Amino acid sequence: AEDMAYETLLVEQHEAVTLVTLNRPKALNALNSQVLAELQMAFAAYEADDSQGCLVLTGSEKAFAAGADIKEMQPQNFADMYGVDKFSGYDALSRSTRKPWIAAVAGYALGGGCELAMMADYIIAAETAKFGQPEVTLGIAPGMGGSQRLTRAVGKAKAMQMCLTGRMMGAEEAERASLVAQVVLAGKLLEEALNQARTIAGLGPLAVKANKELVNAAFETSLSEGVHFERRIFFGLASTQDKQEGMTAFIEKRKAGWTGK
Ligand code: HXC
Repeated sequence: AEDMAYETLLVEQHEAVTLVTLNRPKALNALNSQVLAELQMAFAAYEADDSQGCLVLTGSEKAFAAGADIKEMQPQNFADMYGVDKFSGYDALSRSTRKPWIAAVAGYALGGGCELAMMADYIIAAETAKFGQPEVTLGIAPGMGGSQRLTRAVGKAKAMQMCLTGRMMGAEEAERASLVAQVVLAGKLLEEALNQARTIAGLGPLAVKANKELVNAAFETSLSEGVHFERRIFFGLASTQDKQEGMTAFIEKRKAGWTGK
């Protein structure tokens, strides 16, 4: 059911999957302060709801999001932004859930829109998706992690070229460059994202959390520390009921019944 508390988002539950749709069509889903506040609400609700096992964030056919709201930022100076730590809510958002979420991107994902998509655990793109960090063309630079996450995803050459020229990268190139996990037909984007989300939501929640935490650790640690951390988590999972159930179900050739214990 749609939650009427949101004005810039549509938030629905499809069984164990939360679907959040950015909904400022006249502004191509430009990310203003209200969108951020509502995203934080929606993600907090998702994190708190044990019935929900995966979240899909999407936009419209034309735009996932065309960036931070230029009209909101145009009059703001250093004091206006630094004083309130503008956009720090996006850092909080990117850490707000230990459960998985997928960005399903069609059309423009530019500036803050590209940065928001890159905060997801992974991106599925429609063939129409266009990614870019055009901030340089506005006399600014990325400010929600784009220079860092894009570089980690696609490497220096393409990240530098995109940030210096502002050019857009299409879906096919984005898949080749490992910015997105998969490209699908535009008409299949939501169905495919929801299917994958349903698959994830049907797995054992402890194992899912652990896998997310481990892959993310690869971005924050050395290889030997990361492998050590992985081993500790792996051993820890050996004491869960879900590990016993998962392995027993395999041996007994039946479907596992997860308890999250
Ligand atoms: C505010 C925006 C917007 C944005 C589009 N609109 N992008 N409003 N902020 N980022 C508005 C337009 O002003 C217009 O409203 C309406 O959406 C439709 O846009 P058009 O430009 O008419 O559509 P089109 O010709 O199809 O062009 C699509 C587009 C173009 C190529 C995506 O809109 C565009 O270049 N947008 C800006 C992209 C960008 O520079 N993003 C980075 C922003 S900076 P009106 O009312 O005029 O009709 C950023 C900083 C992140 O994101 C870091 C923060 C920390």
